[in-house]
Amino acid sequence: MNTIQVCTDYLQKFISKKELDAIASEMLAAKKTLLSGSGLGNDFLGWVDLPQDLDSSIISSIKSDVKRLTPSAQLFVVIGIGGSYLGARAVIEALQSEFASMQSDGSHPYIIYAGHTLSEDYYHQLLQLLDTRDYAVAVISKSGTTTEPAVAFRIVKGHLEKKYGKAAAAERIIAVTDAQRGALHDIAQQEGYRTYIIPDNVGGRFSVLTPVGLLPIAMAGYDIDRLLAGARDMREVCIQNDDIQSNPALLYAAVRNILYRNGRKVEILENFVPQLRYISEWWKQLYGESEGKDGKGILPHSLSFTTDLHSMGQYVQDGERSMFETVISVAKPTHTVNIPADAQNLDGINYLLGKSLTEINHNAELGTIMAHVDGGVPVLRIELPTVDEYTLGQLLYFFEFACGVSGYMLNVDPFNQPGVEAYKKNMFHLLGKPGYEKI
Ligand code: PA5
Repeated sequence: MNTIQVCTDYLQKFISKKELDAIASEMLAAKKTLLSGSGLGNDFLGWVDLPQDLDSSIISSIKSDVKRLTPSAQLFVVIGIGGSYLGARAVIEALQSEFASMQSDGSHPYIIYAGHTLSEDYYHQLLQLLDTRDYAVAVISKSGTTTEPAVAFRIVKGHLEKKYGKAAAAERIIAVTDAQRGALHDIAQQEGYRTYIIPDNVGGRFSVLTPVGLLPIAMAGYDIDRLLAGARDMREVCIQNDDIQSNPALLYAAVRNILYRNGRKVEILENFVPQLRYISEWWKQLYGESEGKDGKGILPHSLSFTTDLHSMGQYVQDGERSMFETVISVAKPTHTVNIPADAQNLDGINYLLGKSLTEINHNAELGTIMAHVDGGVPVLRIELPTVDEYTLGQLLYFFEFACGVSGYMLNVDPFNQPGVEAYKKNMFHLLGKPGYEKI
């Protein structure tokens, strides 16, 4: 199996073997709590077995929806916020061309996003685009009551119905929501939309391997069977293996908790290939919402290198020493680009001839890690053999499993997000929503 690995070679200055040995029993206890379902939030552990338990009829339905909508839809609008869009976007942006919006070959719709913002200009621009394109829509909300996607769906639904007529519009809408509750569930029932269920026991930020993520990823033309295969293989490694050194999720959870207890309050997830930036956005929600509570939790931050070395590199090298870095390192690119020879060498880069861009990028990565370690920043590396559906499936499951274990090590409920309600209450009060007259 071409498995992702966690490399701790650059942590030796910061973590001793004694510390790792000392935390091992605590970590195995957290793993046991997770797998036995005896911990906080144990109503939301459905994600643990999803890669193997997902009903194959769901995959078949998704594939037939892709077939049905692909010829007629140039765009597929994914309406959702937080866990209802970040996982899909992370995978799609990791796999598609950076220039996909300009280059689509028409074999699959190009995925665009809504419901993750309340910006009026955003919706104006979206509607202008939708005027000129054929499109279909997935509206995704576990609760079915979240304001941002509800507003976006009302706007887009109105546009779609005006453009195609009510009956044809309904054929172009797919709802992904709770089996029984919520306004979206009720609308979908009333309008007869095709609907996928988000299992009760899977929370939003852990739902990428349900139709929440799988439908948009398949619609974009990517292989969801391979994604699930990667997650399934990683699940085996995470669950079967109690050896901290060879179980990547346990090693990651252990290291970040040791560093946190040693005063490292910020984790920066870094990549050296920009297509992984939405993996970072998804990861930030996963860890931020799962751990940031009860006055505790590592602050998840992210940077894209080498780009951000020219904006944030100074801070990481010399600023306050409260962070550690987790670098996602990709071994093999999908494509090759040669640096052309130039006899004049006016730009002075002929010394790079004969080296691949990836070799240059890997040396930038190594040079950065060495400099940051010298500057007093612990660096952990997650090695990805390449970026494809299979390795991304592994990566997603790896992060989820480590998050569950890590949350229990912090002694919080990793599966709730009570703090998210505070802004909503104020906003509802300010906007005059019935029932929120007093705050
Ligand atoms: O992790 C979670 O459950 C949340 O962050 C949700 O993903 C987010 O709030 C969106 O909720 P919903 O899918 O109910 O619209």
